[in-house]
Amino acid sequence: MFLANKLITITGAASGIGLSTARILARRGALLSLADYDKDRLSKAHSELTGLSSSSANILSTSLDIQSSPAVNNWIARTSKHFGKGIDGCANVAGFHPLWTPKNVQDISDEEFEQVMSINAFGLFKCLRAQLQPGVFNEKGGSIVNVGSVSGLIGFLGDSAYVASKHAAHGLTKSVSKEAGSRGIRVNAVAPGQTNTPMVQAMAANKGVLPTPPVSLGREGQPDEIAEAIVWLLSDKSAYVTGSIYRVDGGMLE
Ligand SMILES: NC(=O)c1ccc[n+]([C@@H]2O[C@H](COP(=O)([O-])OP(=O)(O)OC[C@H]3O[C@@H](n4cnc5c(N)ncnc54)[C@H](O)[C@@H]3O)[C@@H](O)[C@H]2O)c1
Repeated sequence: MFLANKLITITGAASGIGLSTARILARRGALLSLADYDKDRLSKAHSELTGLSSSSANILSTSLDIQSSPAVNNWIARTSKHFGKGIDGCANVAGFHPLWTPKNVQDISDEEFEQVMSINAFGLFKCLRAQLQPGVFNEKGGSIVNVGSVSGLIGFLGDSAYVASKHAAHGLTKSVSKEAGSRGIRVNAVAPGQTNTPMVQAMAANKGVLPTPPVSLGREGQPDEIAEAIVWLLSDKSAYVTGSIYRVDGGMLE
């Protein structure tokens, strides 16, 4: 199988889209280095994934906050050392949506804006910087997939901090793809529409969720449906795709 024995890192691996991605890759025999800042959920995910993989030695889990440069740098260095090989792919999935009720820009505090940008934009930058250091990737190259959002493509009422952070994620993807292409490293993003994950469930429970926009397929997405696109972009099946932002949104923007 084309992903067997490929070394893939995943942030946000303890929940939702990141966990779905990890499940698909574990079943296909990939070597996985998982990261998340939710220790308890990560430990549960680790147990489940070792059961799906052919060997428990194929899964390494690290609890970390992507806002910390030293933690991210150590995790990436430890990953290659642990598996004794260069990284083949990275799924940068970790992200944060504030639970607040939609707020117009004049009502957002510095702290609220900074928290969203610090994870979704600055944290992603820290991951990419660590992953693209010389000698980290397999010398033949590989693939990085960032998770952006339809909120990185258009504006939404009352959600400007998250929208700004996801536009930044898409901008990083496009620029970094130009820098990494000569090394055979492809960099793409998946832009999900509303997807049924703990993040969206928590927003709904908090009544902070925005009205579901009209979607051609008439339903929200499932995490597996987003994960399949991530896995395709990680694999050699997408060998000529880089710098792209792939909408997986049920036709929301059409
Ligand atoms: N669910 C949706 O509707 C939707 C839509 C568009 C984009 N997205 C994006 O998809 C990605 C995954 O979201 P999800 O819906 O699966 O949410 P989720 O909350 O189920 O999973 C996100 C995971 O990221 C982890 N995480 C958050 N901040 C972190 C940090 N600073 N360091 C380390 N780990 C951190 C969380 O602990 C969690 O396990 C996010 O980037 C999100 O913005 C989600």
